Amino acid sequence: MAINILGIETSCDDTSAAVLSDGFILSNITNTQIIHTNYGGVVPEIASRAHQQNIVLVVEEALKKANMLTTDISAIAFTTSPGLLGSLLVGSSFAKGLSLALNIPIIGINHLQGHIYAAFLNDKPDDYNTQIECSKPSFPFLCLLVSGGHTQIIQVDDYFHFNILGNTLDDAAGEAFDKCAKIMGLPYPGGPIIDKYAQKGDKNKFEFNKPIIKDLNYSFSGLKTSFLYFIKEQIKTNENFIQDNIYDLCASLQSEIVKVLMNKFTKAIKQTKINEIVISGGVSANSELRQAVTELASKYNLNLHLPKIKYTTDNAAMIAQVGYFAFLNKKFDSLDLVPKAKLE
Ligand code: KG4
Ligand code: ZN
Repeated sequence: MAINILGIETSCDDTSAAVLSDGFILSNITNTQIIHTNYGGVVPEIASRAHQQNIVLVVEEALKKANMLTTDISAIAFTTSPGLLGSLLVGSSFAKGLSLALNIPIIGINHLQGHIYAAFLNDKPDDYNTQIECSKPSFPFLCLLVSGGHTQIIQVDDYFHFNILGNTLDDAAGEAFDKCAKIMGLPYPGGPIIDKYAQKGDKNKFEFNKPIIKDLNYSFSGLKTSFLYFIKEQIKTNENFIQDNIYDLCASLQSEIVKVLMNKFTKAIKQTKINEIVISGGVSANSELRQAVTELASKYNLNLHLPKIKYTTDNAAMIAQVGYFAFLNKKFDSLDLVPKAKLE
């Protein structure tokens, strides 16, 4: 009998549900809550309410697209941490209710683990009857996880054991994109639009202070502050400075962020001598970062696993994927599992 996992992701501002069958994604439906663009960032209270409004419809659509009934589902995997607590509670309560109704197990998922395995998601092949091997990670691998809330270098030794070698001491890379976008008057989330504008700009036009942080840790708040003061200074002599230089500003900023990310990641690869590498998280959609890791991989002869762009930002397919690995290892949770805003 097929193992069918229903994945649910509600950690931030995306209500997402996915169905994965024997390791292949059959559906992945995401409702991104655009209401937050009005506020320049995610408003937790509004996010929880929007999840509550969306979740039934999103799950129904994911099942319909996968051509499945609730009774076909073997287990429900849902994000339990980290994230906005009110948002996590919506997904978790829904998953528990459905599991009780169907008498099937639940599996609580670490959101970051979901991002890590996004590079190994297998879409359903066009001809589902042909036997195709799922792509699988080979261990150990090094993952550069860059999202809106996290910037980490993680050594992954097997499906459920990993070691964080480097972490952000303050802002995450995605936050740096978002906050600098806000300074330039660009809408939330800032990463995609900075990426787009950067392609038309000169990345050597402006320079900002690079953080000097020991070991494999990251810090982006200094870069953001340097960016802010630079702009404030320039506006004194040209009040249209941002509009006049928007493409070059985006290109220069993006280039600095990518250099900082690559610097430590390269160091980690040299230190660990691991030649299997992965990037993941929302910022791994960034075109300059993807190009930089691709060049690094070819320079040092590394096996690079890049997630498909559609699986870089938050999605339930990655949650279902970890759920599938847990199911195979019989790692289930009991109904008293409680979501947590921060990982323990
Ligand atoms: O992983 P994610 O969807 O959410 C978290 O778990 O945090 O990441 C969202 C982050 C946002 O900060 C967004 O600006 C950034 O990913 N992002 C990008 C790009 N696409 C999304 N940053 C740079 N370039 C992009 N193309
Ligand atoms: Zn995420």
